[in-house]
Amino acid sequence: MGSMEDLRVSACTRCPELVDSRSQIVNGAGPEDADVLFVGEGPGAQEDEEGEPFVGRSGSVLDEQLRIVGLDRDRIRITNCVRCRPPENRDPTKDELENCREYLEAEIDRLDPDVIVTLGKVPTEHLLDRSVAVTKEAGSLEDVRIEGTPRRLLICVHPAATLYDRSQEETFAAALERAAELADVDASNGSGQTRLDGF
Ligand code: URA
Repeated sequence: MGSMEDLRVSACTRCPELVDSRSQIVNGAGPEDADVLFVGEGPGAQEDEEGEPFVGRSGSVLDEQLRIVGLDRDRIRITNCVRCRPPENRDPTKDELENCREYLEAEIDRLDPDVIVTLGKVPTEHLLDRSVAVTKEAGSLEDVRIEGTPRRLLICVHPAATLYDRSQEETFAAALERAAELADVDASNGSGQTRLDGF
């Protein structure tokens, strides 16, 4: 792979179309010991310009909801399945997802998060390796092995879905509420169990 110091991919030319369409590689952002890792699909125009994930309209929706549930953006890490903007914001291809998977896996491995929150269909299907009806399954906590390590994955709709369809707002809010609970439960005693267990 290209070099990956501090989880940053600084040079990569695996996907010819993305090399042409990107203006820069957009790496994950946030603390490397965050309890929660959010995974999006890939950078959009704003992200490509600024070099940071979720800084456009979807990012505003996400930031607002993070604030509401008390999971501030500076406490979480956020990354994407592919780090380069696809042309015309098309979905990343299977090959592109596979090309970038190693970087995502290295990030998950280093972070060792309590929970991974997948934002939308692409990251959810990519990490669960099955087809997913995201709207129906949002809020569901799944057990999945990533590179042989068991991980907890919380399915969430993409923040942009709430912009197209207001009825998704509640689904989005409820999933983030759940993410905040999972992070706080683990922060309180490290075992993933609530303090009331055993009563
Ligand atoms: N949508 C995504 O999936 N990722 C981003 O970084 C921005 C918008």
